[in-house]
Amino acid sequence: MHPHSPPRDTTDVLVVGGGIIGLVTAWRAAQRGLSTAVVDPEPGGGAAQVAAGMLAAVTELHYGEETLLGLNLASARRYPEFAAELAEASGRDLGYRACGTLAVALDSDDRAHLRELHALQERSGLTSEWLSGRECRRLEPMLAPGVRGGLRVDGDHQVDPRRLAAALLVACERAGVIFHRGWAERLSVAADRATGVVLADGTALAAGQTVLAGGSLSGRLAGVPEGVLPSVRPVKGQVLRLAVPQRYAPFLSRTVRAVVRGSSVYLVPRENGELVVGATTEELGWDTTVTAGGVYELLRDAHELVPGITELPLTETRAGLRPGSPDNAPLLGPSALPGLQLATGHYRNGVLLTPATGDVMAHALTTGELPDEARGFTPLRFADASPTQRFMEQPA
Ligand code: GLY
Repeated sequence: MHPHSPPRDTTDVLVVGGGIIGLVTAWRAAQRGLSTAVVDPEPGGGAAQVAAGMLAAVTELHYGEETLLGLNLASARRYPEFAAELAEASGRDLGYRACGTLAVALDSDDRAHLRELHALQERSGLTSEWLSGRECRRLEPMLAPGVRGGLRVDGDHQVDPRRLAAALLVACERAGVIFHRGWAERLSVAADRATGVVLADGTALAAGQTVLAGGSLSGRLAGVPEGVLPSVRPVKGQVLRLAVPQRYAPFLSRTVRAVVRGSSVYLVPRENGELVVGATTEELGWDTTVTAGGVYELLRDAHELVPGITELPLTETRAGLRPGSPDNAPLLGPSALPGLQLATGHYRNGVLLTPATGDVMAHALTTGELPDEARGFTPLRFADASPTQRFMEQPA
């Protein structure tokens, strides 16, 4: 606690970080009757301002991530109802679009990769349909003649993350969530229990439970005892936004993605005419520079898939930071320090996992335990006996 400033405000729940994960946690907690506050200098900002918003549980499936697949699918299934409930609560449209995804291959290597993905999807009980190149072009006439085949996944949808963040902010305000617009500098710990945070200006905020939901910045909160927060690293993604003039519409009618020369590229068409092209994956620390090389590679790969994109106005270039955990799966629920819960480390799946995270965190905050669907994502999965043992022995 700051020496000159006794706690001014006390809430049941204090969420550190007002990105979509922090906001959905706060909204759901407030709906359960918990007095809730959020600390963030710019709530509604963060990686959601950059993300494309693919809800791609099936087409973003990676080997070794089968545990995550269950939670991703559960969250994808909840999206239509979640989007409708949030739109109602906020009076804002989220740009949720059940338009499906087409993952295509340009050469025989890409096609072999996609065939393997298809086999993995089938083994995992997922629905996807293999199409020839001609069938792909019949669905999406703007695709390059060189497209050799593809996977049609009607269940992989999209949402507009900027609208999602804006809607969550309004829903939180309407649910009575308090906003502290400042930086949380230090976690307060008393008698081996988290008791709130101290802001950069010295203001102390007290809470029954503190939730660390700081995205890639989660590791920057001082005062978190060693071993309590598994490492959360920033993984840079550069993303472009183009505009589809009315005369070209519909340019694409669903998300189109591919692996081109080993790099993943996707094109996400919004109903409002925006076309989002992403994304690089770069482990460069806190750097968020948009580079000529990043823009060049995205445009080069996107142009190979859809040559007509070079006709479109380029309206925005931006880079964001994904929060990567040691196994790239989220860290959810009670940590080894009583009074501190985590909702971070969502890596590539923050937008997709927003509905499930809200429900999981509301359950964890009201019962002290994770629901069955999220037990695999406890932060304690990385705990070793040494630095955290002291805290794990305390009653939760
Ligand atoms: N989920 C898309 C990305 O992280 O690039």
